Amino acid sequence: MSQFGSYEERIKNFSWSMAEQELEYRPGDVINIGWYCSDRICQQGKADKPALLWEGMGGKEKTYTYNDIRLASNTIGKFLRDLGIKPEDRVCLFMDKIPELYLGFLGVLKIGAIAQPLFSAFGGESLFVRLEDAQTRAIITQRKHVSKVRKVLEQMPFLEHIIIVDYDEKKELREREVAFSLEKATPVEQFEIHPTTAESPSVLHYTSGTTGKPKGVQHVHYSLISQYLSAQWALDLRDDDIYWCTADPGWVTGTSYGIIAPFSLGITQCVQDIGFSANNWYQFIEKKRVTVWYSAPTAIRSLMKAGEEIVKKFDLSSLRHLTSVGEPLNSEAVIWSQAVLGLPFHDTYWQTETGSIMITNFPGMKVKPGSMGRAFPGLTATILDMKTYEPINEPSKVGLIGFKPDWPAMMRTYWNNKEAYESKFINGWYISGDRSSIDREGYFWFAGRDDDIINTAGHLVSPFEVESALLEHEAVAESAVVAKPDDVNMEVVKAFVTLKPGFEANADMELNIMNFIRKTLSPLAMPQEIEYMPSLPKTRSGKIMRRMLRAREWGEDIGDTSTLDND
Ligand code: WTA
Repeated sequence: MSQFGSYEERIKNFSWSMAEQELEYRPGDVINIGWYCSDRICQQGKADKPALLWEGMGGKEKTYTYNDIRLASNTIGKFLRDLGIKPEDRVCLFMDKIPELYLGFLGVLKIGAIAQPLFSAFGGESLFVRLEDAQTRAIITQRKHVSKVRKVLEQMPFLEHIIIVDYDEKKELREREVAFSLEKATPVEQFEIHPTTAESPSVLHYTSGTTGKPKGVQHVHYSLISQYLSAQWALDLRDDDIYWCTADPGWVTGTSYGIIAPFSLGITQCVQDIGFSANNWYQFIEKKRVTVWYSAPTAIRSLMKAGEEIVKKFDLSSLRHLTSVGEPLNSEAVIWSQAVLGLPFHDTYWQTETGSIMITNFPGMKVKPGSMGRAFPGLTATILDMKTYEPINEPSKVGLIGFKPDWPAMMRTYWNNKEAYESKFINGWYISGDRSSIDREGYFWFAGRDDDIINTAGHLVSPFEVESALLEHEAVAESAVVAKPDDVNMEVVKAFVTLKPGFEANADMELNIMNFIRKTLSPLAMPQEIEYMPSLPKTRSGKIMRRMLRAREWGEDIGDTSTLDND
């Protein structure tokens, strides 16, 4: 049983004001996530409690108490303010999972600026597109990533400051670059936190669209209400937990549940900035005595692949609750973890847009392996007919997942793209873009996405973005990008290309194109396979038939090809 009683009881008595009361927030009050995640916890007498247990390459370790994160976020906030950063300016965080990423995020929020985290493996082009869209004023980064910023600097007159957190004094700073060292800076004890209110913008997360540029999902400080409550109810976080969220704050799980939720609850969390290996991960759990673990299906499948023998080498008895997000959690993974780790993984379903967990197998509730679980209390969630967008109300029939848009963490808009935002609502429902069914007991069963976006290892990749980047390669004439099934990553990127005359379709060229995408976009977006075609299948109007190519990869029926024109 969970700490909060049964699911039915929670639904019956539910109100978001429960979180407001716990957070001592009254409508109209100042609400600043940076303050809630540090100063408030110190005021509650937990200043010396460890907030962040960090481990990096080569066994490097750092521990930050709540007072440390309060001071560090003040210090970064002051530095930004002194540079002239104003409320609602966009400040990009472009770092590996180093402490400055977590502390800088809170610092940006404390001055009322908008935190724009971007995955540090992004290449120059991915970075540029997102910074240009947001007209970002400053970027906080590391030496190892600064060359990617420099490469596109000329195209970014709006980007006034490049803040390097591990500046090496032997090297010269270039145009617009400024050094900041958390260790050397004078800690700022007294800091005037910007009085943001519920609807003040907080975080801007870029997510992939099927067509067009990536979209900036705009969240507000009030999102805290959902994130705080759901971390207790869905992730079962308690005061004495040691929590490990494996997600990178370049993606929404890494901010909503990797920064905001655990810190606002005053919990100790640990972060590992090392690449994945089963050995590293199990060792980390053993060493830190992790109790609650939030991970993703691809990682779980990789652990399954590493086998059961390795598990026996470690003491994982500290684990109490396991949770997963980002892609379908297959029933085998749940059954495996129950058998090998002694606990089932509890699935959680949500999106960058929803800001917090929407559907989950709650702690204490019967887990149905393969199902995502039930709707979070306070939500109206349903399955909509794919044509009429009316609720289906028929068990096991697949349709679109729709939500009534009235929970605190819901996005407020897409940055500078009201039209795209409004297109997400039909008949008063927020249309998730995912297909699912509901069974008689209210459990959701994921069926797939309703668009061409590729979900590789839990990360969304836009085929459009990869196709556009491919066309930048000197040899590529045409391109089509689709998802290809993969045992571990669920889906990987596959590209079909036609080459320009004079270029040879061989293995060297394939590697060359792959590397080009890895560098300009990211390793995630890099096609794992490139298939050369003499021409790409097109509709009569000249549109490349991506769906047909995809169907071929999945061994599915190709469907109606009557509009095919391929001569
Ligand atoms: C997919 C991540 C199946 C889905 C928090 C969704 C899932 C997209 C699950 C959002 C799940 C997320 N089962 N699919 N439990 N959770 N997805 O915006 O397609 O990076 O729309 O947010 O991931 O991905 P995003």
